[in-house]
Amino acid sequence: MRGRSAVTCKLGGGIVARLWRTITGAKAQEQYDMVSQVQSKAISPFAAGVPAKSKTDLKADWNAYAASYDLLSLYNPAYQDLLLEFKNILPQVGQPEVIYDVGGGTGNYSQIVAKAFPKSAVYLIEPDDGMRHMAKEKLSGLDNVVYIDRPFQEFEAPGEDGPRKADFVICAHALYAMPDPHDRLAELRGLLRPGGMMFLLDLGRPMDVADWRAYLFAHLRKKVGLAKALHIFWQGRQIAKQNKAIFKAQQDNTYWTHSETEIASAVEQAGFEILSQKTAYRGYSDLLLCRAVPLRKD
Ligand SMILES: C[S@@+](CC[C@H](N)C(=O)[O-])C[C@H]1O[C@@H](n2cnc3c(N)ncnc32)[C@H](O)[C@@H]1O
Repeated sequence: MRGRSAVTCKLGGGIVARLWRTITGAKAQEQYDMVSQVQSKAISPFAAGVPAKSKTDLKADWNAYAASYDLLSLYNPAYQDLLLEFKNILPQVGQPEVIYDVGGGTGNYSQIVAKAFPKSAVYLIEPDDGMRHMAKEKLSGLDNVVYIDRPFQEFEAPGEDGPRKADFVICAHALYAMPDPHDRLAELRGLLRPGGMMFLLDLGRPMDVADWRAYLFAHLRKKVGLAKALHIFWQGRQIAKQNKAIFKAQQDNTYWTHSETEIASAVEQAGFEILSQKTAYRGYSDLLLCRAVPLRKD
């Protein structure tokens, strides 16, 4: 009898493990081991035997990510904390008239500012059609949001004849994915009038997909039960896939990784004074509230 239940248990464990792998689309332990080894600099994930990918492959597919992106705001408490943190800093930015949300994605930050400041003009810069489409649908009831459909590096900074300089700029989890982030930081500074504020949130550390999966699964299982948790993971399988792509792009230096000190120095060099800084998003990201210092060209 004992033998039978052991077999049943073993078989059951195997089935659950297979289901787990099918649902998450990943070999969790392998991924975890790889990340740990890379973080301890023991091996490169692109060591011999792994087919080399071109730089263009090593990027997230934001379009594929778009449809499931808002599962983060629905179910990821760490993402929800960021939105709350953002709401809480708004009293410090006064009454901004012109706001840019650079790499605004599905519009979660734009939605908060457009509602908080209904008289302000919010420019959401988002090059990906899928992300922008989700934002437009979600924010369709708000008439103070303008959508700009190009990458930030191709966006013409406001000048005397163009749109006015911003009072507030948001750049949330997008800078690391842009080419030449130091140049982009200077352009973010260029969007602002002297004294204007920037909310900068940026992924700095390697995206450990297995760690996120374990964290989210534990949370969801407790909150909604095993069956619903598995269902949500299935719905959100693109999130895991794109986060893996982000990790690879970080390892390849296609995406920027930085420490707290590195991002602080880059931000100051670009012409900002840092009003506050902390790590966020379970230690993976840096969150800075900055003020544009006057520059000679202002
Ligand atoms: C992780 S999402 C963040 C979206 C949103 N800010 C949020 O936090 O929910 C990153 C976004 O940056 C955008 N992005 C990537 N490269 C960009 C670029 N060069 N210029 C502007 N946006 C870019 C992507 O299309 C994507 O929507």
